[in-house]
Amino acid sequence: MDGKRTIPFFNYPALFKAQEKEIMDTLHDVLSRGAYILQRDLEEFEENIKALIGVKHVLGVADGTNALILALRAADIGPGNEVIMSSHTYIATAASAHFVGATPVLVECGADHMIDPESVELAVTDKTRVIMPTQLNGRTCDMDALQAIADKYGLIIIEDAAQALSSKFNGKCAGTFGLAGTFSLYPAKVLGCFGDGGAVVTNDDEIAESVALLRDHGRNKEGEVVTWGTNSRLDNIQAAILNVKLKTFKKDMERRREIASMYDQALREINDLILPPAPDADERYYDIYQNYELESGHRDELKSFLAECGVGTIIQWSGKAVHQFNGLGFDNVSLPIVEKMTSRFLMLPMHTALTDEDAEYVCKCIISFYRK
Ligand SMILES: Cc1ncc(COP(=O)(O)O)c(C=O)c1O
Repeated sequence: MDGKRTIPFFNYPALFKAQEKEIMDTLHDVLSRGAYILQRDLEEFEENIKALIGVKHVLGVADGTNALILALRAADIGPGNEVIMSSHTYIATAASAHFVGATPVLVECGADHMIDPESVELAVTDKTRVIMPTQLNGRTCDMDALQAIADKYGLIIIEDAAQALSSKFNGKCAGTFGLAGTFSLYPAKVLGCFGDGGAVVTNDDEIAESVALLRDHGRNKEGEVVTWGTNSRLDNIQAAILNVKLKTFKKDMERRREIASMYDQALREINDLILPPAPDADERYYDIYQNYELESGHRDELKSFLAECGVGTIIQWSGKAVHQFNGLGFDNVSLPIVEKMTSRFLMLPMHTALTDEDAEYVCKCIISFYRK
């Protein structure tokens, strides 16, 4: 490839460099105050997220997986209950149901890679208590369709919005539709800290109170243990870093959408590719492109070619849907649509350190692959 560049799939050092001074000052400030656990930076972070997504309660927790587990616990989900979710999700979604003693029930996804409402309805049994949609790749599901099913069968919705902070459907943010929603603040997420982090959000006072107890050993504000709990708090120092990153967050999401538009315009004529919906494709959706996940009929060759060109790509979750992992109890599950897609998925670089020239180069490489 002429003018070869090196474009890593993700670029942690470049992202740090962009905010180095402010982050180092913040670390210095927090360390000087000795403010580590459940301190004011965490409270500020929780207020910031409330304002960002329009929700009544935000509880910073240890990570996105614990956020799911605590949300399920707070909603009293456990043995004998079934939780319906897409099989094209992170193992953590299913593991959360497993670890509260419930049964994860895996279903198909639709053309936009989100959970398929028809499959959800077909999977409802008299044991179903929860629909747990994954707000995947920075897109929010068609929540009207899922809410209609939840209403029809008396189910609750707990959203795995790990990948979708500030993404919207019909003007409402991911995480705020159901009884509770959860986020991951893992470093590569649209809002990522320098380690593990997560949050539970809810408009329900009882769920919020329960998660606040569960994340801190069952202790109330006076320090009295009033129930069984665990240790799952978002570190104050991580919250302080996130507060810095939140200052540019909305602009960062717009930049992701710009990159998605560039990919879409350059690649939409290639018949072998199925691209994610473009930012302006449907006004009901405001996607924030946590990932740019496309489908290719020549995925593995394309991935190798891009690697030769210096472009890093990733196959999400090692190219397997949850039911395709052995030993987890899904041997009898067959989901042909998801299975076909997992052999075709590929993610292009998508982050705010990517320049226009980088994105153009990625597209040029893909176009030259298909000309070969
Ligand atoms: C869809 C989804 N659910 C849950 C998680 C779990 O989050 P964490 O890694 O913070 O535990 C992730 C993180 O990658 C995710 O992408």
